[in-house]
Amino acid sequence: MSARRARAAVVVAVALASGVVAGAMLLGCPSKNESEKAGASAGASASAGASSSAGAGAEAGAASAAAVSADGREIVRGACLSCHSEQMLAQQRLTPAQWSKTVGKMVVWGANLDPKEVEPLVAYLSATSGVDAGAYVADEVSAKEAVAEISATPDAPIPAGDVERGKPLFLDKCAGCHGSDARGATGIALVDRPFLYRASDFASTIRRGRGKMIPQTLSDAQIGDVLAYLRTLRNPPLR
Ligand code: HEC
Ligand code: HEC
Repeated sequence: MSARRARAAVVVAVALASGVVAGAMLLGCPSKNESEKAGASAGASASAGASSSAGAGAEAGAASAAAVSADGREIVRGACLSCHSEQMLAQQRLTPAQWSKTVGKMVVWGANLDPKEVEPLVAYLSATSGVDAGAYVADEVSAKEAVAEISATPDAPIPAGDVERGKPLFLDKCAGCHGSDARGATGIALVDRPFLYRASDFASTIRRGRGKMIPQTLSDAQIGDVLAYLRTLRNPPLR
């Protein structure tokens, strides 16, 4: 929970600091194929929910409210959290009409959303971050916990890799989503990020996938190679 917040905060900070992520997003709209493939993991429950809640669920009322919420949260994970933190969304207080308009705008900007997911998503956001949602109460995290979430960990068992092998591997397996310069497209920017120095977490993200990121089967040695390459990349200085 708080790990996600720290990560998301970094994503937003990078986006704001460089303006590059936002630019890449506009150019890097996911292809239909990618979103369908990726949807297999992230969207399985979301689209199942979309049909039930958008159809019968809407009239069924209270009984379906819980289902709508659970599905909505999954849709948010898949379509919104690559660019925003959960907290940023939870702080909004918008009417259903405003949520609908915002979601439409985010789709234009690159949110990976199936048309079937729009209605349950707007219902979820209107219920959890609507005008009647009351005052937003921020979660607290200690400075120690926050630092622990982004500090470097030992690389083992991931072996030291080879930059020359890592670059083509990155271009083959990752660049389609993260951009050929690794500075973000459908996937987030990977340059100069703390997770590059948390090799075990990095490996499990790759193998389990996350949100719209499909799990990848890479050996420890291959992950070491990709890491070695990514660690050589630097963002250009801000102008
Ligand atoms: C590809 C990146 C990206 C994705 C994915 C994305 N957004 Fe955004 N969103 C942005 C950016 C960039 C802004 C900043 C807009 C600005 O500065 O006005 C923004 C702004 C917002 C705002 C602030 C109000 C506004 O209209 O500017 C809300 C609320 C929001 N997004 C909700 C969502 C929701 C809900 C989703 C998931 C359906 C989502 N976003 C997915 C990039 C994204
Ligand atoms: C199908 C598109 C896709 C592919 C292919 C892909 N990614 Fe991702 N990746 C994403 C998206 C989208 C996210 C953001 C997921 C989220 O948090 O919702 C992400 C997140 C990540 C993260 C998470 C960082 C953190 O916050 O901890 C890492 C690390 C990462 N990708 C590395 C890789 C590497 C390395 C490869 C190649 C082996 C790869 N990805 C391939 C789409 C992709």
